[in-house]
Amino acid sequence: EKGNFRHFMAKEMHEQPEVVAHTLAHYLDMANETVQLPELPFDLAKLERVSIAACGTAYYAGLIAKYWFERYARLSVEIDVASEFRYREAPLPADGLAIVISQSGETADTLASLRYAGQEKQHLLAVVNVPTSTIAREAHAVLPTLAGPEIGVASTKAFTCQLATLAALAVAAGRARGVISAEEERGLVHALVEVPRLMNRALDLGPEIEHLARSFAKTKDVLYLGRGTSFPLAMEGALKLKEISYIHAEGYAAGELKHGPIALIDENMPVVVIAPHDAVFEKTMSNMQEVAARGGRIILITDETGAKHAALETEATLVMPDMNPFITPLVYAIPIQLLAYHTAVVMGTDVDQPRNLAKSVTVE
Ligand code: F6R
Repeated sequence: EKGNFRHFMAKEMHEQPEVVAHTLAHYLDMANETVQLPELPFDLAKLERVSIAACGTAYYAGLIAKYWFERYARLSVEIDVASEFRYREAPLPADGLAIVISQSGETADTLASLRYAGQEKQHLLAVVNVPTSTIAREAHAVLPTLAGPEIGVASTKAFTCQLATLAALAVAAGRARGVISAEEERGLVHALVEVPRLMNRALDLGPEIEHLARSFAKTKDVLYLGRGTSFPLAMEGALKLKEISYIHAEGYAAGELKHGPIALIDENMPVVVIAPHDAVFEKTMSNMQEVAARGGRIILITDETGAKHAALETEATLVMPDMNPFITPLVYAIPIQLLAYHTAVVMGTDVDQPRNLAKSVTVE
C-alpha cells in the first residue's frame, strides 16, 4: 500500500496536493470562487466567541485558524490544548461556538472537551478525518477533512486538510459577518485554489532538504522560529522533528527569542526561520539578525521575494514560490515535514511507528 514510497509518511506527504484539493473542492465553489459550506445548525453572523480545543498537531492547526478567524472574520477565539480545556472550568458565552479538531475523532481529551462545551451550551462543531468516530457522532455539526486514512503516526496530510477546512470556515465567517467583501472572498478563495499547485512546487524541494538533513541528523537541539501564522507552524515543525527523529526541538514566536531562548544559540544549534514575505517579514528578519550575530546556524524558509530581501548569510535558504500570505501555513507545512522526515531517515528511526507513540490516544 506504500506504493513506490519507503514509508507511509512519505506517501502521505506526497498525497497532500491531491487530498487538499479534494477537501477544498468540498467547501469551495471553485468556478465562482466563493465558499460553499454545508448548512450549519448555528448562525456564523451571530457568534459571540469561538473556543477551540485539540491536541498535538490538531492543536497547531487550531492556533493557525485563530489568526484567520480574528483577521478575516473579526471573531474572538480562545484556544487551549484539550487536556487543559477540559478541566479549566472556563466560562463560555451564550452563542459561543466550540470547535474540536481531531484526525482520529477518538482522542480522549478532545472528546472530553467537546462534552464540557456541550454542558456549557455551546454550539459544537467537529473538524474530523474519521467520519464514523465518536467525536463526529457527538458534535452538532461536522466538517470532515477528506485526507483519507492516515497510517503514519506523525500527522501530515490530516494537518493540511484541517487547515484547508478551517480556512474555508474562516472565509465563510468573514462573509457572514460582513467583514470581507465579495471581492475579498474571491481573492481568498482564489488563493486557496492555488494551494495544491504550490504544494507540488514545495515537494520539489525534497532533494535539497534531503541534503540538509545529513547535517541536521548530527545535532542535539533545533530551534524553530516564526511570527503570525508561521509561529504555530514553528511549533508543528519542532513537534514533527521530535516525534520521528528524537532530536530535541522547540518552536518559538520569533519575538520571544530575546526573552530567553537566545541564550541557547551557539555555532552548533540550527535555527529554522519560517519567514514568508508577509506583513511581519521585516520583524522576523531582525530576529534572524540576532541569531546571526551570535554565530547561530540559520536555515531560512522563505519565498522568492523574501530571499531577495534577506540580507544575511544563511547555512541554507529554502526558496518557496511567492504566494498570498493567507495560505502560507498550508504550503510551508511541506518543507517542515520533509525536514523532519529526511532527518529521521538519516538517523534510521522507525519513521511510521516512532517509539512510545500511538496513532490514536484514547486514554488521558
Ligand atoms: C502529531 C501527532 C499527534 C496528534 C494528536 C491528536 O504528529 O500525530 O500530536 O496530532 O495526538 O490526534 P487526533 O488528531 O487524532 O486527535
